[in-house]
Amino acid sequence: MGLFSKRKKTETIDQGKGKVIAFLNQKGGVGKTTLAFNTASALKAKGHKVLCLDMDPQANLTHLFDVVDPRYSLFHLLINQVRELKALHAPVNMAGVLKTKNGMDLLPSSQDLSGLELTVAGITAPRQLILKKFIENERILHRYDYIIIDGPPTLGLLVVNILCACHGVMVPFRPDGLSRKGLGHFYDILDQIEDMGVTQIPEVLAHIPNLMDTRRKQENDDLEQIKDDVREYWGEERVVDPFYNRVGLVKATAEKKTVFDYKSSEYLLLQKQFGELADIIANRTGGLGEMNVH
Ligand SMILES: Nc1ncnc2c1ncn2[C@@H]1O[C@H](COP(=O)(O)OP(=O)(O)OP(=O)(O)O)[C@@H](O)[C@H]1O
Ligand SMILES: [Mg+2]
Repeated sequence: MGLFSKRKKTETIDQGKGKVIAFLNQKGGVGKTTLAFNTASALKAKGHKVLCLDMDPQANLTHLFDVVDPRYSLFHLLINQVRELKALHAPVNMAGVLKTKNGMDLLPSSQDLSGLELTVAGITAPRQLILKKFIENERILHRYDYIIIDGPPTLGLLVVNILCACHGVMVPFRPDGLSRKGLGHFYDILDQIEDMGVTQIPEVLAHIPNLMDTRRKQENDDLEQIKDDVREYWGEERVVDPFYNRVGLVKATAEKKTVFDYKSSEYLLLQKQFGELADIIANRTGGLGEMNVH
């Protein structure tokens, strides 16, 4: 045994089984928040323990959790990870920031998050790894099955932090010509992450056409083009069935509810679609499956 005791110390630390999944697209209004909220709820409905992270300074996901202007937010927890910024540390820990609604946990956002880039501009520690460090330091992958991140409509330091910390990405988009260009730019950033000293490069688990309008033929043509692009880049088609423009989803979001909070048959199809997104996440991230018991 003595022979091996030294080697053991250098083994990689068990980071836990949880998977970090981010809803990202630098374009605004494509459904990141709506889809993140409902997919998180679908994972919860399947018996998983879910933590939502609101990484968007607009704090829309925070709002859906009925949280308004929290005193401390994810911003403070992130700054607290940076030793060089000790003077700015907030007297709060994760338990003090955590909110809960309908069995899902949330680390809320606040407007301060938009200043993260400036706040950490002068530090020597790797700025792109602050979120990853936080997840490791708090042993979040041991405590949750899935961590669902709602991203901002930008491609700055917040998104780079998300990409360096996540296992998988879900990309909602509106099927039009402009989105094609946007997706190309997004893949460029993904490629650049490889040069940033991260060990795990996130995979795009699914592209989600959203807010489709059945009456517009052009949309279907654009969607086919995007499917071709995706197939070319990833070697397989990772575009799921579209979400159409649904009044039910607008109503649920306005009432700060998920589609799983409704019994009426109007919501059956949406429930099924979000259930499928949850299954894709489980299957493509190595699947915690349905066996996980708490
Ligand atoms: N399939 C859908 N059917 C109808 N309305 C939808 C659908 N998906 C999203 N919406 C609505 O579209 C608007 C934009 O959605 P959402 O806020 O989720 O986008 P986002 O990508 O998070 O935006 P931002 O980039 O500003 O954060 C919201 O009002 C939402 O309720
Ligand atoms: Mg949003």
